[in-house]
Amino acid sequence: MNQLIKVGKDTSYIQGFTNVGVVSLGNGQVCLIDTGIGDDDAHVICENLDNNHLIPAFIINTHCHADHVGGNGWLQNIYHCPAYSVATEIFLSEYTDVACSFLYGGYPPEKMQETLLRAKVSEVYDINKFDLPSGFRFERIDGHSFAMIAVKTPDDIWFIADSVIDPSILRLHHMSYNYNISKYLESLDILGGLRGDLFLPSHARLTDNIDYLIRFNRDNIRHVTEDIMEVCKKPKNHDEIFKALYDKWQIQISYRSYSVMGSALRSLLTYMLDSDMLEMKVKDNYLLWHSKEN
Ligand SMILES: [Fe+2]
Repeated sequence: MNQLIKVGKDTSYIQGFTNVGVVSLGNGQVCLIDTGIGDDDAHVICENLDNNHLIPAFIINTHCHADHVGGNGWLQNIYHCPAYSVATEIFLSEYTDVACSFLYGGYPPEKMQETLLRAKVSEVYDINKFDLPSGFRFERIDGHSFAMIAVKTPDDIWFIADSVIDPSILRLHHMSYNYNISKYLESLDILGGLRGDLFLPSHARLTDNIDYLIRFNRDNIRHVTEDIMEVCKKPKNHDEIFKALYDKWQIQISYRSYSVMGSALRSLLTYMLDSDMLEMKVKDNYLLWHSKEN
């Protein structure tokens, strides 16, 4: 993580694997938007706050994936600042083992319970029951996770979480993690309707042209589904599809990608089944997915 970057009168962010919003509330107090991936990120946030004589009054977690909520505990121990988020995400911040098991699909091996999958437990409250300071607004953009919010600051700058991923990351990894693809595509429509001066995704650069990122991410879903259609011309089970895709994209599977992207692939298969692109059948005790073109 780097230094505080000012992008509006009251709005700054700390650039990192997960961009962290720092929004001035006056009198040296700030609101943090997300807290990074763990204690190291929390430490950098803390250093930046110290250097600028700032104290966080509260935290908004756009959603409770480990790379957004991971610094909560460390920061809350120091500043005793409450954190707010929405719906199921609140539950996941407290029961981080459920989030971890959800991604794996059962009780995960120790090797897979890495930082990215399992955040430290933190206490997060319902943002709907909190009076946000004047000029703040949030909009639900579910689909990437069970629930997620885009947060607008008084400077008309939107922090849009994991709704769009940087094209350079998508070109490299092809698949991004999304829980519910139909909802995710709807969230891109919602994003297209947001009015603001600047947009800061958590894992992409600041932009005033959100339409390009929306189009790129939507097209990427289409490209991935086309690749799945291609590899499923012959019926395959989940692991065979995963291998065929990663061979095609020349990517090595890791323990982490097996959990996270394996789960993302299941969601894509569901979407494609529900959209009549694939059919599903049981044969020889395998659950097989077959492109409907055949
Ligand atoms: Fe996320």
